[in-house]
Order: sequence, then C-alpha cells, then structure tokens
Amino acid sequence: MAGKVVAILGATGVVGMQMMQCLEERKFPVSRLVPLASERSVGKTVRFCDTDYPVQLATPQAFAGVDIVLGAAGDTQAAELLPQAAQQGAVCIDNSHAFRLCDDVPLVIPEINKQDIACHPRNLIANPNCATIIGLVPTWPLHQAAGIKRMIVSTYQAASGAGMPGLNELVREHRALNAGQDVGATDPFAYQLAYNLIPQIGGFTEENYTSEELKMQHEGRKIMHLPQFCVSCTCVRVPVMRSHSESITIDFEKDISPEEARAILSEAPGVKVVDKPDELVYPMPLDASDQDLILVGRIRRDLSSPRPERSLTFWCCGDQIRKGAATNAVQIAECLL
Ligand SMILES: NC(=O)c1ccc[n+]([C@@H]2O[C@H](COP(=O)([O-])OP(=O)(O)OC[C@H]3O[C@@H](n4cnc5c(N)ncnc54)[C@H](OP(=O)(O)O)[C@@H]3O)[C@@H](O)[C@H]2O)c1
Repeated sequence: MAGKVVAILGATGVVGMQMMQCLEERKFPVSRLVPLASERSVGKTVRFCDTDYPVQLATPQAFAGVDIVLGAAGDTQAAELLPQAAQQGAVCIDNSHAFRLCDDVPLVIPEINKQDIACHPRNLIANPNCATIIGLVPTWPLHQAAGIKRMIVSTYQAASGAGMPGLNELVREHRALNAGQDVGATDPFAYQLAYNLIPQIGGFTEENYTSEELKMQHEGRKIMHLPQFCVSCTCVRVPVMRSHSESITIDFEKDISPEEARAILSEAPGVKVVDKPDELVYPMPLDASDQDLILVGRIRRDLSSPRPERSLTFWCCGDQIRKGAATNAVQIAECLL
C-alpha cells in the first residue's frame, strides 16, 4: 500500500505523541511524518519509527503535500489551521471541539458509526470528546439490544485529560506536598488536585451543567443518530494520571438482565468485560491504561428504578489518551485507506 504523508498538528502534546506511537504500533503506512507545533517547540525533535523528526511551526504552508492531518491541538488552532489544510487536499481528523457539532463534519467512533466517514465534504472528520467515546463504546451494543431511554453518568477524569499541563501539575503538586510545601498557585486546575476531587470540567453553561457535561448528550445524539438521546452527566477531575472512569446508569425500552448485558458486551468490539465481583475483579484506571479496550464491570440492575428489569448500572474505564483520542483518530485514518 502506498504510504501517506501524515501531519500531526500538536505533535509535542499528550495526544500528539500518543498518535505517533499508535501509527507506529498499528503499522499505518506513513511515507513522511510532518510534526507541527507552536513556536515553543521549534528546534525540538520527535521520534517516530527510529527516526528523529524536527518539529515545524504550524502554518498553512506546512500542509503542502500532506495527505492526512491528525489534529491534536486546541480548538483555536484547529479552527484556524485545519480548514486551510483541508483546502490544500489533506483529510483532517481532529480531536478538538471545533468541528464536532458541524452538520457537514462527521463525528465518528468507528465501533459505532464508521459508515459516516464516507461523507466528509469539507475534508474534515471529528473525533468525539474522550469521555463520550469511553461511555458510548459499551453503551452502543446495549442500545442495539434493548433501546436506550435515558442515561445518567458520573465521570472520573484523569489529570492528563487536561494535556501535558494537567499531567505536569499533578506531579508538581505531589512533589510539593511530599516535600512538606504548600502547592501554591494551581494551573490548569482551579484548585489543588492532589488528594482532592474537582467537580468542574469546562465552563458552566445551560442549567448549571458544564460544557464538558453537555458533550455526552450533544455528541451522542450525532454519533448514534439518536436525536432524542437524553443524558444527565456530572464530570469530576480526579487525581489519577491516566484513564477516565465512568459510572453509568441506563433505562432501556426493553428488558435486559445483567447476564444478557455481560454476554452482549463480551462480544462487542472495543470492549472487555472485567466483572467478577466475588474475586474483587473490576475495571480500574491503572488496568485500563496503555491499551485500547474499554473495560466494563460492576454490571448490575438499578434497584432504584421503577422497572429494574429494564435498567442497568455499570462502571467502565478507558485510556482517554489512546481510545479517547489518538487510537480513535488512527482507526478513522485506517478506514480512509
Ligand atoms: N488529553 C486528553 O486526554 C485528550 C483527550 C481527547 C481529546 N483531547 C483534545 O486533543 C487536543 C490536544 O490535547 P492534549 O491533551 O494533547 O494537549 P497538550 O498536551 O496541551 O498539547 C497541545 C499541543 O498543541 C500545540 N499547540 C499549542 N498552541 C499551538 C499553536 N499556537 N500552534 C500550533 N500548535 C500549538 C502544543 O505545542 P507546544 O508544545 O509547542 O505548545 C502541543 O503540541 C485538544 O483539543 C484536547 O481537547 C485531549
């Protein structure tokens, strides 16, 4: 297969670096890598397939001759640069929020709606929010079996969900506290995260939900082609380095037992059932890290439901840098091939 010229916008960040690892692991046919970042990174190199590549400044000209762009920068850089890359003929698969809800940009989790990739009139394809991907990969096969009515989610999101600055901040706070010092000013989090939980991710919007909390419903409707999909979500930042966890309760249209759900999920793509409570076996972020499957366990009836035979509660964990971002983008790129 002919190799592709692949640019990574944001190659020095948490997601960008993971993208290079995923491309290499999955043997994606790359004929030339174009790592792009801000002025801060010009002069640095990134390593890909045993070769050091100099990081280039992300400008519109940098996309000349590029076949595929994997976007791993913020909303502002994506909104400014990716349409210009797309106009030059590159297909852009973006991880930011910039294009996710645009009608003419497919929003794709390959396990759910890879058929949507075929129509990308603007040469732009969006990767969903990481918590949306981790929650919907196991929810989709259950929906196909029993029809989802409503969903209640609480997320437990790792520090690295806030990128390299989030990762560095949690390490810094631990070091300061272990040295008996005050953590001082915190950034990018509003409060100390070490030994704490912060029940806010994103800014507050409608009805006092945060922007992050509304993504599961808005993006889920588009991905699953379910305009009535209803979610109440609470997003919490937790002092975990990597991998998001979610507690999910779903009311269904039809009866579905925990045993049926376990059987369905054990066959579902992208999912691994980890559910032996008697042996203290359940998903945890440490076990979900550095691999691509969404681990699902603690599957049980929702005893508070008026119809517990139509309601399930479960817990899932997934590596938000891999399946929640880089792997999902590379899977989309593989579909393009
Ligand atoms: N972290 C996650 O778990 C996760 C999951 C899903 C989606 N996402 C999304 O993925 C994107 C990247 O997130 P991240 O966590 O990897 O962030 P990050 O670690 O902070 O990395 C940001 C990247 O963007 C680059 N960048 C910043 N300003 C730029 C500019 N003006 N021009 C060009 N490049 C610039 C940075 O380059 P410098 O090093 O030169 O500053 C760096 O390579 C974001 O849209 C984020 O919302 C993240």
